[in-house]
Amino acid sequence: MSESGVFTPDETLLTDQVAIVTGGGGGIGRAIALGLASAGADVVIADIVPERCEETAERVREFGRRALPCPVDVCDTDAVRAMVDAAKAEFGRIDILPTSRCTPRARRPC
Ligand SMILES: NC(=O)c1ccc[n+]([C@@H]2O[C@H](COP(=O)([O-])OP(=O)(O)OC[C@H]3O[C@@H](n4cnc5c(N)ncnc54)[C@H](O)[C@@H]3O)[C@@H](O)[C@H]2O)c1
Repeated sequence: MSESGVFTPDETLLTDQVAIVTGGGGGIGRAIALGLASAGADVVIADIVPERCEETAERVREFGRRALPCPVDVCDTDAVRAMVDAAKAEFGRIDILPTSRCTPRARRPC
């Protein structure tokens, strides 16, 4: 923060913040993942299709950010817990959680 108490542009970016984006392999989730990377965040790509995880992770890295591709079905609680543990192990923190794909409140196939 500057002496005048105003944040500088660099301070308002997401440099070194860590995001998990569910459904991050495609559609809106991929767009969110790339937007976060362009603003300086490292991104965990959580998607049910492994190839999509890898593709988005590669594009995140093109922004000079770190990416962790995590194939996971967000309806599988144990798999989601394992994904969160993997994210913490890789980055040591989680700051942002956009859920482009999330578990429905009522238990039904998603
Ligand atoms: N696209 C739109 O116009 C629109 C409008 C309103 C709401 N939405 C909602 O926004 C969300 C994202 O929309 P989209 O068009 O990007 O969706 P999409 O169908 O492109 O899916 C986004 C990603 O989610 C992944 N995915 C699907 N099921 C998953 C699961 N169980 N676990 C992990 N990943 C899974 C897919 O592989 C895909 O890469 C959806 O919930 C959709 O209903 C979309």
